[in-house]
Amino acid sequence: MRRTCYIGELNEAFVGRTVTLQGWASRRRDLGGLIFLELRDRSGTVQVEVEPNAPAFAEADTVRAEDVLEVEGRFQPRPEGQRKGGLADYEVIASRVTVLSRAKTPPFELDKGEGVAEEIRLKYRYLDLRRPEMQRHLRLRSRAMAAVTAFLDAAGFVQVETPMLTRSTPEGARDFLVPSRLNPGEFYALPQSPQLFKQLLMIAGVDRYYQFARCFRDEDLRADRQPDFTQLDMEMSFVTQDDVLDVQERLLAHVFREVLGEALPLPFPRLSYREAMDRYGSDKPDLRFDLSFVDVTDLFRGGEFKAFADAETVKVLAAPELTRKQIDELERVAKHNGAKGLAWLRREGAGVGGGISRFVSEQAAELIERTGVAPGGTLLFAAGEWKRAVTALGAVRLALRDLFHLAAAGPRFHVSWVVDFPQLEFDEESGGWTYMHHPFTAPHPEDLPLFGTDRQGEIRAQAYDLVLNGYEVGGGSIRIHDPEVQAKMFAAIGLSEQEAREKFGFFLEALAYGTPPHGGIAWGFDRLIMVMSGATSIREVIAFPKNNRGADLMAGAPSPVSPAQLAELGISVQAEA
Ligand code: AMO
Repeated sequence: MRRTCYIGELNEAFVGRTVTLQGWASRRRDLGGLIFLELRDRSGTVQVEVEPNAPAFAEADTVRAEDVLEVEGRFQPRPEGQRKGGLADYEVIASRVTVLSRAKTPPFELDKGEGVAEEIRLKYRYLDLRRPEMQRHLRLRSRAMAAVTAFLDAAGFVQVETPMLTRSTPEGARDFLVPSRLNPGEFYALPQSPQLFKQLLMIAGVDRYYQFARCFRDEDLRADRQPDFTQLDMEMSFVTQDDVLDVQERLLAHVFREVLGEALPLPFPRLSYREAMDRYGSDKPDLRFDLSFVDVTDLFRGGEFKAFADAETVKVLAAPELTRKQIDELERVAKHNGAKGLAWLRREGAGVGGGISRFVSEQAAELIERTGVAPGGTLLFAAGEWKRAVTALGAVRLALRDLFHLAAAGPRFHVSWVVDFPQLEFDEESGGWTYMHHPFTAPHPEDLPLFGTDRQGEIRAQAYDLVLNGYEVGGGSIRIHDPEVQAKMFAAIGLSEQEAREKFGFFLEALAYGTPPHGGIAWGFDRLIMVMSGATSIREVIAFPKNNRGADLMAGAPSPVSPAQLAELGISVQAEA
């Protein structure tokens, strides 16, 4: 049973030759006594014609959708007038059709994949994966992995695997726990990331490490999150932030060139966290289009319009002409993202009208001047506490992108760095400070004196995120290699020495045995492949993903286990309340 080639490899050179092909019958039509089969393999689809007097006819007549076939026949051009370009210009006149395996009627039509409910696609994932688009995603992913491996191997990185059954790693999500049979009452945690292990590898002298690491996080799911996902994890010794970013830029450019033939302009622009939030209202701004905020806090400070007069921040966005309905919809977006409302007005000639225009007549000329709003265009305002105001307006910016297809006019891919994240973040819920990246991230040395003062919130971390088309596709930092700085950090987040020892004693001990300066990053590999392939959900580029309730609908996981298994683990399950 040898195929001549994959279907996608057929071309003009095969014309007149007898070929043997293997694949699935994607469609069958009977027309004028002839049988037309579409034969599909992972690389393409070709039409097979079976004539009524051909020896293949009887077998072909039994073929139904998704049967597995071997077809032998003459490869030839289709008649003039039936050519649609590419493989559709050719057909195979079958001399033999062998059904290798029969298929039940599929639960959905594979060529209608897009319109089929995702639940069905996930339940029958092995059928869904037969679709050309899914095959393309799997191949793109595989080629990207190969490109990464080639680049990093050449750059002296060593691939090391780290354990799956381990202790908790602090990445801010809940752990997935695994009970230990041999140590009743004790649990492993699946890694949220290999963070501590890769730092230990630097202490161990590996110098440059990478791994495609499976990570597990029990958090609320979204289109760009899975509980079980893959990071491209990297760490380097004796480096500064610039060294890490430089390698990363060259690596990403290599992957885009190899896999998509796209040239990414280097170096990637860098924005500080403060700038990104201030201008775009996001720490992962979509920069395929500009549309940045203009600060007008000073214009209203202490003025008549009370809503703006006392606000810490007043930002304005110059949008195109909007209907009342569109404005209402954008206001809903702003409110959903923490704003009390979305003030607006319209430019009318040299003045302004509508919305809050009667309260801001004094500032009208200056507003037009600073924002450059076009006649008829709308100004949208967010006012209040800085972070809340910019975040809400940032969400409005993205809604405008979707409404007016703003990204379509820009480059296909825009990559940037967001740097200088705050080291610490005040957590309203617990009323204390917490880490923003993770507790091993190094602060800027010049900000060290701010630890323990009332300006802790201003400490900048040597942390960076890689942003692609508005997605955070990677995050990393330079790490603390000095136990004294590490102690300051633990103190700042309210972790006593004893608590720190309990949580990461093994790691703190290792830090004291000669730790080189080091830093690294992890890419969200699934997310990167999602953006590279143009998909809108991470589930499109993972072979067997979970749905948005964390369930594997095909395998039926999670599932109850037998009482005997529970007893062996010393676990009893409480009935649900
Ligand atoms: P971080 O938590 O930022 O950093 O994760 C790195 C990248 O992983 C991706 N990511 C996810 N992708 C899919 N589903 C998820 N649930 C999910 N969570 C995160 C994101 C993110 O940018 N140890 C550090 C890295 C380091 O400092 O070197 C870490 O894990 O694209």
